[in-house]
Amino acid sequence: MEPKDEDMREAQEALCEWEKSPLAEETLICECYCVSVLDIKQTCSETRSVDVELLRQTFGMGTGCGQCLRDIADWKNLVF
Ligand code: FES
Repeated sequence: MEPKDEDMREAQEALCEWEKSPLAEETLICECYCVSVLDIKQTCSETRSVDVELLRQTFGMGTGCGQCLRDIADWKNLVF
Protein backbone atom coordinates (compact mmCIF):
# COMPACT_ATOMS: atom_id res chain seq x y z
CA MET A 1 0.00 0.00 0.00
CA GLU A 2 1.33 3.44 -0.99
CA PRO A 3 1.71 5.99 1.82
CA LYS A 4 -0.84 8.74 1.57
CA ASP A 5 0.23 12.33 1.07
CA GLU A 6 -1.15 13.10 4.50
CA ASP A 7 0.99 10.36 6.08
CA MET A 8 4.06 11.69 4.30
CA ARG A 9 3.32 15.22 5.48
CA GLU A 10 2.88 14.08 9.06
CA ALA A 11 6.15 12.15 8.95
CA GLN A 12 7.94 15.17 7.52
CA GLU A 13 6.55 17.44 10.23
CA ALA A 14 7.59 14.98 12.93
CA LEU A 15 11.10 14.87 11.47
CA CYS A 16 11.30 18.68 11.43
CA GLU A 17 10.18 18.84 15.05
CA TRP A 18 12.77 16.28 16.01
CA GLU A 19 15.55 18.16 14.23
CA LYS A 20 14.61 21.41 15.98
CA SER A 21 14.17 19.93 19.44
CA PRO A 22 16.49 21.36 22.09
CA LEU A 23 19.47 19.34 23.23
CA ALA A 24 19.22 17.42 26.50
CA GLU A 25 20.49 19.49 29.41
CA GLU A 26 23.23 17.01 30.29
CA THR A 27 24.71 17.14 26.78
CA LEU A 28 28.32 18.31 26.97
CA ILE A 29 29.06 21.15 24.59
CA CYS A 30 32.61 21.85 25.72
CA GLU A 31 34.34 18.63 26.66
CA CYS A 32 37.58 20.35 27.68
CA TYR A 33 35.86 22.30 30.45
CA CYS A 34 32.80 20.08 31.00
CA VAL A 35 30.31 22.76 29.98
CA SER A 36 26.87 21.28 29.49
CA VAL A 37 23.73 22.62 27.86
CA LEU A 38 22.38 23.24 31.37
CA ASP A 39 25.48 25.30 32.27
CA ILE A 40 24.97 27.41 29.15
CA LYS A 41 21.25 27.82 29.85
CA GLN A 42 21.92 28.99 33.39
CA THR A 43 24.79 31.28 32.45
CA CYS A 44 22.96 32.89 29.53
CA SER A 45 19.50 32.84 31.09
CA GLU A 46 19.07 36.61 31.05
CA THR A 47 19.30 36.99 27.30
CA ARG A 48 18.27 33.44 26.42
CA SER A 49 20.88 33.45 23.69
CA VAL A 50 24.36 31.96 23.63
CA ASP A 51 26.92 34.54 24.81
CA VAL A 52 30.30 33.11 23.85
CA GLU A 53 32.27 35.84 25.62
CA LEU A 54 30.40 35.24 28.89
CA LEU A 55 30.91 31.49 28.58
CA ARG A 56 34.62 32.00 27.95
CA GLN A 57 34.94 34.23 31.02
CA THR A 58 32.86 31.91 33.22
CA PHE A 59 34.16 28.49 32.19
CA GLY A 60 37.11 29.11 29.90
CA MET A 61 34.95 27.54 27.22
CA GLY A 62 36.61 27.51 23.84
CA THR A 63 40.10 28.12 25.21
CA GLY A 64 41.10 24.46 25.16
CA CYS A 65 40.99 22.60 21.88
CA GLY A 66 38.43 25.07 20.51
CA GLN A 67 36.24 22.39 18.97
CA CYS A 68 33.11 23.57 20.82
CA LEU A 69 33.36 26.96 19.12
CA ARG A 70 34.19 25.48 15.73
CA ASP A 71 30.94 23.51 16.05
CA ILE A 72 28.88 26.43 17.33
CA ALA A 73 26.64 26.56 14.26
CA ASP A 74 25.56 22.99 15.01
CA TRP A 75 24.43 23.56 18.60
CA LYS A 76 23.82 27.29 19.11
CA ASN A 77 20.15 27.20 18.09
CA LEU A 78 19.39 24.00 19.99
CA VAL A 79 20.20 25.23 23.53
CA PHE A 80 17.10 27.31 24.30
S1 FES B 1 35.68 21.40 23.59
FE1 FES B 1 35.61 23.46 24.23
S2 FES B 1 37.70 24.01 24.26
FE2 FES B 1 37.77 21.94 23.75
